[in-house]
Amino acid sequence: MGEIIHEMITEKQITEKIAQMASQINEEYKGKKVHLICILKGSVFFCCELAKRLDIPVTIDFMTVSSYGDSTESSGRLSITKDLDEPIDGQHCIIVEDIIDTGFTLKLTKKMLFARGPASLKICTLLDKPDRRKTDIEAEYTGFTIPDKFVVGYGLDYAQKYRNLPYIGELEFVEH
Ligand code: IMP
Ligand code: MG
Repeated sequence: MGEIIHEMITEKQITEKIAQMASQINEEYKGKKVHLICILKGSVFFCCELAKRLDIPVTIDFMTVSSYGDSTESSGRLSITKDLDEPIDGQHCIIVEDIIDTGFTLKLTKKMLFARGPASLKICTLLDKPDRRKTDIEAEYTGFTIPDKFVVGYGLDYAQKYRNLPYIGELEFVEH
């Protein structure tokens, strides 16, 4: 099987959207300090672009959680392979995620982080695939709502490939 990528969201559209999301966060967190929790690896590109556009005080920490293997289906189980370096108690935290699919990853991640006593805890996702949702999780900030397609690029991978694409594309599998 080969793979073809069809551009779905251009780099320009993504950049404009991130700027809008950042100004909304700047507005809503005015006078506060925000702690971004970047979920590795997929959210790195998005998190950096978002953080660069925030004009409130920002700190960033990273965490690797997964409910996915090298396949296109979620297992619904969470494993933390890299935890945050710093405690989050008393801080205004925003979980920065690349995509919400079934919602299992975020549901479990949010519950686990909430138990650490943050002052507030919100979710900011670049992409949302609501058709596939199997939990009641919702993001406070969503970039694009997309149809039930497997997408890559701008941090998102298929078997660790295509994260470096500057746009979001739909992955199609083709016979050679
Ligand atoms: P969930 O637990 O089903 O919501 O899965 C969330 C995680 O699955 C995301 O953080 C991604 O890492 C991965 N994922 C879900 N959909 C896609 C996709 O279309 N392309 C690439 N990764 C995806
Ligand atoms: Mg992810």
